[in-house]
Amino acid sequence: MLRRLHPDQPGSFAFSADNRAWAEAQIAKYPEGRQASAIIPLLWRAQEQEGWLTRPAIEAVADMLGMAHIRALEVATFYFMFQLSPVGSVAHVQVCGTTPCMLCGSEALIGVCRDKIAREPHRLSEDGRFSWEEVECLGACSNAPMVQIGKDYYEDLTPESFAGLLDAFAAGEVPLPGSQAGRFASEPIGGATTLAETPATESRNAAVALAAENGDTIARIGRAPGRAADPGETI
Ligand code: FES
Repeated sequence: MLRRLHPDQPGSFAFSADNRAWAEAQIAKYPEGRQASAIIPLLWRAQEQEGWLTRPAIEAVADMLGMAHIRALEVATFYFMFQLSPVGSVAHVQVCGTTPCMLCGSEALIGVCRDKIAREPHRLSEDGRFSWEEVECLGACSNAPMVQIGKDYYEDLTPESFAGLLDAFAAGEVPLPGSQAGRFASEPIGGATTLAETPATESRNAAVALAAENGDTIARIGRAPGRAADPGETI
């Protein structure tokens, strides 16, 4: 897939004060002359702040690291983790479409995205609050089909449960991630068949428990000053 910068770009980019301090701390971890090694975390932080990676942000990061702009552009356009187009202000949905998820129904999930968000990937919904894309294997194949929203995985989805998740996000909720079919982790859907004598004592696995504790699935870090939250947006 050809990855190009979006035709409409903002005029400038600046890290928030907190994010600039964080970025400078990352750069300081590297020996003199190796500052370019910090490019991935800095681009990621810029994306977390703005929602997507703009050309001014890429160039600002390059300037901070003493890199030619083209070198930073090479990194930003290579990795799919970097969003080069505006994403939904509430949630950007990444649907895994690789073989195990496809065999378990990911094409139906993409159908839900087309119906509820936008007909094509990398397009904003009419209200600008959602966007979606198909991605390659996210490493949760045993709980297929699944999607990533923000930092969290939503697994064992059906078209109905996935549509319900989108409705919940639209209503300003942050649904609990993990299996949406009641699985603790990736044990068989009918229950554990090994280590059954040592059942889990927690009600949620560690990833879900941490997500529930943080409650920040769709939060952005250091939102740009003056950028107000959208109705129902959790930040
Ligand atoms: S194939 Fe979907 S998570 Fe691996």
